[in-house]
Amino acid sequence: MNEFALARAVHVVAIVLWIGGVAMVTTVLLPATVRQVAESERVTFFERIEARFAAQSRWTTLAAGASGFWLVWQWNLWQRFLDAHYWWMHAMVAIWALFTLLLFVLEPLVLHRWFEVRARRDAVGTFALIRRLHWVLLVASLATVLGATAGVHGGLFAP
Ligand code: HEM
Repeated sequence: MNEFALARAVHVVAIVLWIGGVAMVTTVLLPATVRQVAESERVTFFERIEARFAAQSRWTTLAAGASGFWLVWQWNLWQRFLDAHYWWMHAMVAIWALFTLLLFVLEPLVLHRWFEVRARRDAVGTFALIRRLHWVLLVASLATVLGATAGVHGGLFAP
């Protein structure tokens, strides 16, 4: 295996763990929390469990970003960012930047506390908001995976 194949493999494994985890949280953990946990305790319960996944996601996000940027640099793919046909390259960087901001800045510094405080006022509404946000992130991430895989292997709206 050459170093490019290795970087691509690292990239894909990181994406599988990271976006697969987002899918698991969105489609299994959040609905199970609604069924199993009392309304007033849902946000705290969920935040405690998701904290472990968030720690894991920080590593997978770093691995995906490092391997991705390394490939862009090695293959000199920068000009793709000037071509709308490569919208999936923009989507990859946008999703990565969004999660990086969420995991490293907003969640630890702002969101964790904000959700707890908001849940004391409106437990049901806050949990519904958390579920909606997860669905938005999951759908955007899956659209990116779809676009990138198709784009790399021949194209979905590609040139
Ligand atoms: C800093 C962020 C990222 C950069 C710089 C980046 C860069 C790259 C590069 C250079 C490739 C190979 C392109 C080619 O072979 O022509 C690639 C492939 C791919 N990336 Fe990313 N990526 C990033 C984040 C993401 C994210 C967040 C996702 C998913 C949500 C993603 C999913 C994929 C997929 C599915 C492939 C195709 C793998 C294959 O079929 O060989 N990437 N990425």
